[in-house]
Amino acid sequence: MYITLSVIKADVGGYVGHSDSHPDVLAKADDCLAKVKREGLLVDYRVTKCGDDLQLIMTHQQGVDNEKIHKLAWDTFVDCTEVAKKLKLHGAGQDLLSDAFSGNVRGMGPGVAEMEFEERVAETIIIFMADKTSSGAWNMPLYKMFADPFNTVGLVIASNMHSGFTFEVHDIKEHKKITFNAPEEIYDMLVFIGAPSRYMVKAVYHRETNEIAAVSSTQRLALIAGRYVGKDDPVCIVRSQGHFPAVGEVLEPFASPILVEGWMRGSHMGPLMPVSVPDSTPTRFDGPPRVVAAGFQLSGGTLVGPRDMFADKSFNLARHQANEMADLMRRHGPFEPHRLPLEEMEYTTMPEVMKKLEGRFINLD
Ligand code: F6R
Ligand code: MG
Ligand code: MG
Repeated sequence: MYITLSVIKADVGGYVGHSDSHPDVLAKADDCLAKVKREGLLVDYRVTKCGDDLQLIMTHQQGVDNEKIHKLAWDTFVDCTEVAKKLKLHGAGQDLLSDAFSGNVRGMGPGVAEMEFEERVAETIIIFMADKTSSGAWNMPLYKMFADPFNTVGLVIASNMHSGFTFEVHDIKEHKKITFNAPEEIYDMLVFIGAPSRYMVKAVYHRETNEIAAVSSTQRLALIAGRYVGKDDPVCIVRSQGHFPAVGEVLEPFASPILVEGWMRGSHMGPLMPVSVPDSTPTRFDGPPRVVAAGFQLSGGTLVGPRDMFADKSFNLARHQANEMADLMRRHGPFEPHRLPLEEMEYTTMPEVMKKLEGRFINLD
């Protein structure tokens, strides 16, 4: 049975500030999707949140980039924005960058990760959702899951993974893509994906079966809008078990928190802290950035779950370390490397300040 899993998300209003989602907004989204499920377009759905981002997880048989599914998500975000406006939530409708839907939510503000596949006898799925960070945040975790034997021992000792994985990498500035085969091209690949603000891992495929293993959302809100309008707060779907990394191998990268861009005003480096869904409430300095993981088994497209994977106690140390890292970074205040480098500031205040001071810069000799 072929099934499409679509995760489409948007920030339609924060409660309080940008720190969380309001239950009435989530309830509205549930109403919208329940109605469509009854009508038969969706096989199943779940509504959840990561911080101030509303997450629609949907299974159906319409394929990826389907207009009906994208319109359903868009209309749901519009209806939820109405609720957010009534409650005067902060930034109501902030990710809906267009007034009207035109066939596909890509490029309109919401984030999208979708994959179509033939459901296995046991189809294990982990959906990662992040808040207060940008799409490149998945680069290192995906590299570790699918190319690093120190993370994924299955690459070494499981014969059905030993041939490796193919990475599809997008250059979101030049609007180009390239594929790399791991393990033999990892040094070339790391030149690019080690610069995650520009090069992003879009998808990963099994080398032998060509099956899709992972897909991420790669839209950059600032590049769409031409100015800072909030961070991308990306999502990523990973298939697990069998000839894909085991659940523990998929989650392992997040046990060692890394620095990602985002946090306060989308302009800082900070640790990506793995948390349970109820703990996805970025509060300190509007952060630090969070990642949640919803685990499912699929049964004929029905979503069996979610299990809140980072609620597990074994991630306590990672959370503690992330808080220590947050302290260390905060010490720098408005200085790099806490504040993002100039190139990444170009969509914030930098152009305005530069313009104001233009005439005051005098040539050195
Ligand atoms: C970061 C984020 C927040 C806001 C900050 C200012 O992605 O959402 O840090 O940038 O709270 O928000 P506004 O400009 O909406 O008052
Ligand atoms: Mg927000
Ligand atoms: Mg957000």
